Amino acid sequence: MIRPIITYPDRRLFLRSSEVERFDDELHRLLDDMYETMMAKNGIGLAAIQIAVPKRALIINLPDEEGHQHKEDLLELINPVILQQEGSQLYTEGCLSIPEVYEEVERAQWVKVAYFDRHGNERTLEAEGLLAVAIQHEMDHLDGHLFIEKLPYLKRKRIEKEYRKRQKRGSAQTPVRNL
Ligand code: CO
Repeated sequence: MIRPIITYPDRRLFLRSSEVERFDDELHRLLDDMYETMMAKNGIGLAAIQIAVPKRALIINLPDEEGHQHKEDLLELINPVILQQEGSQLYTEGCLSIPEVYEEVERAQWVKVAYFDRHGNERTLEAEGLLAVAIQHEMDHLDGHLFIEKLPYLKRKRIEKEYRKRQKRGSAQTPVRNL
């Protein structure tokens, strides 16, 4: 089921999501709904809080070189924790919860993450490049943080002003590479 995505400045986006404790049908339904919603909105990543569920669950489905997403590449990370990180990279990020804002943000180049899959099995993953960016962006959502918080103060203020104007006016989304 496609669920509505909550958008900035909805206060729920600033909540710290709680740990998933049961790896049951309800969790599986949540993950399936997150996938349907992300695909419907042309996203490449989504955290549960973006559909108003404050649980530590996120999904990522990066496109291939031709821009196509394949479900077999879908990653589902439950209760993820970053064990190690290295280096830095700049990437122009977007977010389904902050429509039409795209800004360059600095993240670690490489991360090692421990997490659980949907059945409660412990796993680890090493990621670099865009996958590392996506993991860090979605994990920030679990702690109630948005990528625009990483921007310099004045830049953020300017972006927020433009964003509010656009929200009032209402405009078509250009849904590309949103996390
Ligand atoms: Co996001």
